[in-house]
Amino acid sequence: MATILAIESSCDETSAAVCKDGKMLSNIIATQQIHQKYGGVVPELASRAHQQHIIPVVEEALSLAKVSKKDVDAVAFTRGPGLLGALLVGTSFAKAFTLARNIPLIEVNHMQAHILAHFIPSDKDPEWEAPQFPFLCLTVSGGHTQIVLVKDYFDMEIVGQTMDDAAGEAFDKTAKILDLPYPGGPLIDKYAKEGNPDAFKFPEPQIPGFDFSFSGLKTSILYFIRDKQKEDPDFLQKNMADVCASVQNRIITILLSKVKKAAEEYKIKQIAIAGGVSANSGLRASLRAMSDTLGWKVFIPEFQYCTDNAGMIAIAGYHKYLKKDFVGQDVAPLARMSF
Ligand code: KG4
Ligand code: ZN
Repeated sequence: MATILAIESSCDETSAAVCKDGKMLSNIIATQQIHQKYGGVVPELASRAHQQHIIPVVEEALSLAKVSKKDVDAVAFTRGPGLLGALLVGTSFAKAFTLARNIPLIEVNHMQAHILAHFIPSDKDPEWEAPQFPFLCLTVSGGHTQIVLVKDYFDMEIVGQTMDDAAGEAFDKTAKILDLPYPGGPLIDKYAKEGNPDAFKFPEPQIPGFDFSFSGLKTSILYFIRDKQKEDPDFLQKNMADVCASVQNRIITILLSKVKKAAEEYKIKQIAIAGGVSANSGLRASLRAMSDTLGWKVFIPEFQYCTDNAGMIAIAGYHKYLKKDFVGQDVAPLARMSF
C-alpha cells in the first residue's frame, strides 16, 4: 500500500496530486494567468506564482483525496527539465515535507512523466487500458517534441526530436504572429475547427530520419501574413479560421509523417501521444484516422493528464516507489535533464 503526494512546478502550472496504489485520488492544477500579456512564460514571475500557489494547491489535493499529511508515504517531485527557479519551489517543498515527516523522496523526470501518464487508470473511459511495452510515444509540449521508444517504465530511448522549435512553440509563435494571446495552441485549435485545412499551403521541411524542424514554418507564416496584409489589411480578420486550420494541418502532417516512419522502422503498432499538444483535437482526429488505415492501436491520455499536471508525476513516483528508487536531501533541480 502506498499513498504518494506529487508536485509539479517545472513551468507555469503549479500542481499537486495524490495517488493511492496507482489510482489517482486528486489532481489539482493552478494555471498562472500572469504570463498571458507577455506572450510567453516569464521565468521570474513563474517562480513567484509557484511560491504563492504551492501550499493552497497541496492542501486542496490532500483534502479532495481525503488523505491527511500523516498518511502520505512518499513525495514525488519534478526534478527537471524546466525553468530552474520554478523547479526550485517544488523541489524545496518536497524536500521539506519529506524531511519533516521522515518519509522517502522521489525524483521524477518531467518528460518521462508525460509518457507515464498513459498508466493512470481513467475514471471516465470504461474501455481504458494501458499500453503494452514496447510502444512509441510522440511527446509534444511547449518545450519538447520527441518520438520515444518506450521499452519499460524507466527504459526509454529518444529516436527522433526537434532540431529547433518544439511543436507547442510552433503553435505559440504562430499565435503571436496572428495577434492571439499566449498560450496559442488551444485558440488555434478552436479557430481551426471552423476553417479549411487546405485553404493555404505551408511548406513541409525535408529533415532526414525521425527528427523534426518547425522554425522554417514559423518564418513562412510570418512572410505569408505580411504579404497578404499588404494586399488587404483585413486579411487576418477575414481568414483567421482558414489560416489556423492550414497551420495546424501542416504541424500535424509534420508530426505524423515522422511517427509513421518510426512505426514502420521499429515495427510497432502501439502509438501513444503525450504532452500539452496532445490536447489538440486535430492531432487526435488525424491519429485516430491513421490508426484505422494502418492498424495501429492508439493511446491518448485523459485531457487533464495531457498538459502539465502532478498526476503524471504521481504515477511515475508510484512506479519508482515500488522499486524503492529514492533520492536524498542533497538532490537539486536540473534545468536540463536527460532520460
Ligand atoms: O506539456 P505542456 O502543458 O507544457 C510544457 O511542458 O511545455 O504544453 C504546453 C504547450 C503549449 O505550447 C500550448 O500552446 C500547447 O501545449 N497546447 C496546445 C493545445 N493545448 C495546449 N497546442 C495545440 N492544441 C491544443 N489544444
Ligand atoms: Zn510538460
